[in-house]
Amino acid sequence: MDVKPELLKVPELHALLLGTIGPRPIAWASTVSEDGVVNLAPYSFFNVFGTHPPTLILSPALPRDGQRKHTLINAEATGEIVINIVNFELVEQMSLSSTAYSEEVNEFIKSGLTEKASVQVKPPRVAEAIAAYECKVKEIVPLGSAAGAGNLIICEIVQGYISDEIFDDSGNIDPFKADLVGRMGGDWYCRAQGDSLFTLPKPGTLHGMGFDQLPKFIRKSKWLTGNELARLANQNELPDADEIAKFCERDEIQGSLKDFSDKSARLEEKIHKLAKEYLKKNKTKEAWLTLLQLTNIRKP
Ligand SMILES: Cc1cc2nc3c(=O)[nH]c(=O)nc-3n(C[C@H](O)[C@H](O)[C@H](O)COP(=O)(O)O)c2cc1C
Repeated sequence: MDVKPELLKVPELHALLLGTIGPRPIAWASTVSEDGVVNLAPYSFFNVFGTHPPTLILSPALPRDGQRKHTLINAEATGEIVINIVNFELVEQMSLSSTAYSEEVNEFIKSGLTEKASVQVKPPRVAEAIAAYECKVKEIVPLGSAAGAGNLIICEIVQGYISDEIFDDSGNIDPFKADLVGRMGGDWYCRAQGDSLFTLPKPGTLHGMGFDQLPKFIRKSKWLTGNELARLANQNELPDADEIAKFCERDEIQGSLKDFSDKSARLEEKIHKLAKEYLKKNKTKEAWLTLLQLTNIRKP
């Protein structure tokens, strides 16, 4: 479908944007009102935008009833906010804290959470959270005056807390231990756990050759996906003729190709599928050498 914001009702556009822009991290924001009432609410219009200065931005939207959210009112009045991080263990308590309780209600109490005094700001942090960032509000940028308009609360972290329990033995944060959750569209969330987590090495400092430099029979492969072609295109040079010839002598290659004549249309399929297997096992060089057997076999 084409999305033309001006032709859609705000809730329709909201559903489309939130369903496609995700998973979004959740800022579980604690603030204190001018009267000293503690407030806690989740915001998934949120992210980190820089580390020097360490900057977080969240965005309470203007609701239909015109009432500004307590988080926005408090952040504006006091200039302080704590962003607690939500993981799977706390997801239901976080959701409960999103209830639009009246301003004298403390959502820590409603959601069964423990207030832990912050070091540099007045709002307490959620003691149960795996991480929390004490922030000073640098600026609030309203994005409009109608319902649905965001208000960017630009925060600078002045003090952080991260649970020792989410680090691995090398001192890195272990995503399996962190068990973070993200907000999707509708009532959907996702959990960064199990098969959802995977690593993808950054492209090397040597620039990969790119799709445009892939030989046409590879670029137009009927069997390799965009991800697989990208893996091949991330290499910066092709194996030389000697390597290709030597690879051809391997038993696994000889065995795989022995039933095919040079001209067989299925030879191509077999080779591409073999390359796919190597890519699955992270053996990019072998995948390249396998594919280049075709040029070798079909040399004029
Ligand atoms: C996971 C989650 C994410 C949310 N993200 C936002 C958001 O980014 N912006 C917003 O205006 N409301 C968001 N909400 C709704 C607010 O949490 C809700 O309006 C809450 O009552 C606001 O509380 P407050 O008035 O105490 O600040 C979210 C709710 C949930 C459950």
